[in-house]
Order: sequence, then C-alpha cells, then structure tokens
Amino acid sequence: MKNFSLRCIGCGAEYGANEVVYTCSRCGDLLDVIVDTDRVFSRDLLRGRVESIWRYAELLPDFGDGVVSLGEGFTRLVRCERLARILGVKELYLKLEGLNPTGSFKDRGMSVGVSMALRIGARRVMCASTGNTSASLAAYSARAGLECIVLIPEGKVAIGKLFQARIHGAKVYQVRGNFDEALSIAFRSASETGAYFLNSVNPWRIEGQKTVSFEIWEQLGRTDINVVVPVGNSGNISAIWKGFKELQLYGVIDDFPRLVGVQAKGAAPIVELLTNNASSIRFWDNPETIATAIRIGKPVNWKKGVRAVKDSRGIAVSVSDDEILDGLRLLATTEGVACEPAGASTIAGLKKLLDEGRIGRDETAVCILTGNALKDPSEHLVSWNTPMILESLGAKPI
Ligand code: F0G
Repeated sequence: MKNFSLRCIGCGAEYGANEVVYTCSRCGDLLDVIVDTDRVFSRDLLRGRVESIWRYAELLPDFGDGVVSLGEGFTRLVRCERLARILGVKELYLKLEGLNPTGSFKDRGMSVGVSMALRIGARRVMCASTGNTSASLAAYSARAGLECIVLIPEGKVAIGKLFQARIHGAKVYQVRGNFDEALSIAFRSASETGAYFLNSVNPWRIEGQKTVSFEIWEQLGRTDINVVVPVGNSGNISAIWKGFKELQLYGVIDDFPRLVGVQAKGAAPIVELLTNNASSIRFWDNPETIATAIRIGKPVNWKKGVRAVKDSRGIAVSVSDDEILDGLRLLATTEGVACEPAGASTIAGLKKLLDEGRIGRDETAVCILTGNALKDPSEHLVSWNTPMILESLGAKPI
C-alpha cells in the first residue's frame, strides 16, 4: 500500500493527491509530492520488470489501467573512456535521455502527468515550452485522446521540436516574447480554458522525472558520483534530487551524489544566486543562449533547484555558448554521441569544473544528455574542415 499527498515547501500546508492544485493556495509556494509507502524497495524487486519508468511502481502513483505510457525511461548509460581521458577525469558516463520516445527526458514526467490528467477527468492539457515539453505533451496527450494546447516563444524553438508538437496535433500558439512570458500566459489562462496545466511547476511531472536517479543507481551500482545536469526552470535537477532522496529514505543508498547544475552564461539566474550566496533570486528579463531549451530567465522551480544543489553539497556553474558548442563537437567527434546544445552544456560545465579543481580528477561524473541531437539540426552547430585534397578533386563540403 502506498499513499501520496502534496505538501507546500514554504508553509507545509497539505493537499490530497487528487486535488487539482499546482502551487500552494495558502502561500503560493511550490508543492512537493510526498510518497508514504510501507513497502520495502530493493534491487531484487526489480528483476524481470518492464524496462520503463513503471518498473519503479512502488515509488510512483498507482493509476491502474489508466497509465499513459510510450515506454519512457530505462535509457542507456554509456561509459566514455576516450572523452574521460581528454577531459582528464577518472570515469565518465553519459545518460542518453535523447533515447526517450519523443527524444527528451520530458517523457518521464509526461507519462505520470498525463496519466494524472486522465485520472482527474481533464479533457484538455496545456503547457508553455522552449520545445521539448510541448513535443512530449503533444505525443502523450494524443495517446490519451486529450486535446493539447502549447505556447512557445516565437522564432526560438528548434525546428524538430516544433514539428513534433504539430505532427501530434497540438494547437500551437506563438508568443511575441520569451519562454518566461509564454509560461506566464499559460499559467494564467489554464484554469479559464479548463485545461490541466503540465509545466514542471506541476509536481506530478517531477514524480516521473525522478526515475532517472533510480536508473543511474540501478545501472551503475553506486552513487558516490557527480551528476551533471543542464538547468532551465530547474525542474529536472530537483526531480533528480528527489529520486536520490527517496533511495536514501528507503535505505538503498548510503552515498548521496553531488548534483552539478549547469546554466548558459546568458541565462544564469540560479548560478548568480548561488555564487552570491543570496537568499532570493534576481530574475533576468532578457535571457539569451544558443541552447534554446534553457533560454530561461525566470525559473519557476528555482527554490527547489537551489535546495537540490545546496542539500547535495553541489555546484552551480555557467558556460558560454562557445564552450557549449566546443563541448557538443568534442562529444560528437570523440564518442559518436550527439545531443542538443542544452545537453552538451554538461560536458562544458564538467570540463570547466575539472580545470578549476572543483571536481577532482579521480572522481566519477554522469552527464545527463537531456535531448536528442536531431531536435536541433541547426547548421551553425556544425563546424569541421574538409581535407584540401577533396576540394581540389571537385568535392564540395556542405
Ligand atoms: N535540457 C533540455 C533539452 C530541455 O528541454 C530543458 C527544459 C532542460 C534541459 C532544462 O530542464 O527546465 O527542468 O531545468 N526544457 C523546457 C521545455 C523548459 O519547455 O522543453 P529544467
């Protein structure tokens, strides 16, 4: 038997799991899902189970026959010896979240979030997005037979992501402004349009996304590691923290990983807060970065993100667009693995922290490559030199 409830991270107010509430109606703060289970959770339980997030049933809500799933999760964890040597770190692993059904980690959260939409009887779902959330919500709501509305910042969503939202039949609205403005419109209009709101401020999204931590523990067999994560709204880093926290609570891990959050230099309000040891965030009005997925100046989940970094004795670091591009090209050409720019920020962040001595060269790092390379096939991400001989024989590079 297990019991789920919602608790405000500010005032501690509690809500039932079936209440449609996104933030605390008393004080406006963020909500955590509290998992109260009397079942023991152990590695042995998992043998022979389905290879998706739903293998961790003890720690997920029980939707019975109402689970909306496309087989999300259980993505590969790949060891990288060549790249580890080049960066100068003992062990490096990549978590290939681009292998999820719609090509990003969002599918973990959408499987739980859209299942919850069905449970509460919603007919329509809504989100704002830099691209991946909308691609994922469009796919999962199509599978569930729900209507989907998405708001995106005009001209700032990678082509592959926009294609996904449209092919799955979402109604796509562009906002003349950035993601933060699109999110504000979506949040204000969701209840009036009768839509269930599925951005990561919805705590059920976080429940699905926490499963990446269970997988890292299960696949790697140890947790004395650095987990390096790109940060936008900071939903994902807080989900990863929650996943490891639950493993600790149920007594399956002793070592808590150090969580390393990476933001782009042009969109780094959380890094600014932690670097200055400030108690409150200063939102950025005009975030800018080539990594459009994390082009976010007003991260709604900032309190949870800061909690994740501080509680894990972690680090927050920012990297320039050039460093992100170098990271992406290095990864792609040394390991045969590519990802979208936001994911490559983890390689850039890890390199910087190793060079500065803030992560030891004898340590282990797991970089979360959050989105598939084909999401963003922009020409300016590519750069390589053709051997002169080919050009002299009439072959032209593209
Ligand atoms: N990486 C990718 C590829 C993303 O799409 C996102 C967020 C992040 C990292 C950051 O995750 O916001 O939880 O800190 N994308 C959202 C979207 C904002 O709309 O697709 P976060």
